[in-house]
Amino acid sequence: MKPINSHSNQKGLLLALLLVVLMTLSACAGAAASSQTNSDVTEQAFTLEALAQYDGLEGRKAYIAVDGVVYDVTDIPQWQDGLHQGRFQAGKDYSQEIRSESPHGLSMLSRAKRVGVLADEDDSR
Ligand code: HEM
Repeated sequence: MKPINSHSNQKGLLLALLLVVLMTLSACAGAAASSQTNSDVTEQAFTLEALAQYDGLEGRKAYIAVDGVVYDVTDIPQWQDGLHQGRFQAGKDYSQEIRSESPHGLSMLSRAKRVGVLADEDDSR
């Protein structure tokens, strides 16, 4: 009787161990998959030409770029129809103007959603 009992106990232990290993493995796989979707590699890169399509006019989305980052200003009241302060149309890189022309500087960018980056363009050619 005793040998049979210890044998079935061992079996139960092995099964429990297998379960723990499987659960750990699936947790790791899940973490790996989610870290992949959060990675910067998947972020959209815009050329200046592509950015120009997002001018906010005629129902188009309004994007602006500052310091290589592209922001969505479509739903920001001060950027209605992609126009800000009557003179800045969306679809452009405003890294200089946001510093030299605006009283608020970079602080207002936190109101906008980051949607991508500017693509590296070799303009030395
Ligand atoms: C997420 C982006 C931005 C947001 C949320 C934002 C928001 C604002 C707000 C709230 C004001 C105060 C006046 C008002 O209520 O209408 C303002 C003023 C102004 N902004 Fe922006 N802004 C942004 C980007 C820019 C950029 C990129 C520029 C320059 C290219 C700029 C230039 C100015 C100027 C010139 C004023 C007027 C200051 C004055 O004459 O009193 N802004 N902005």
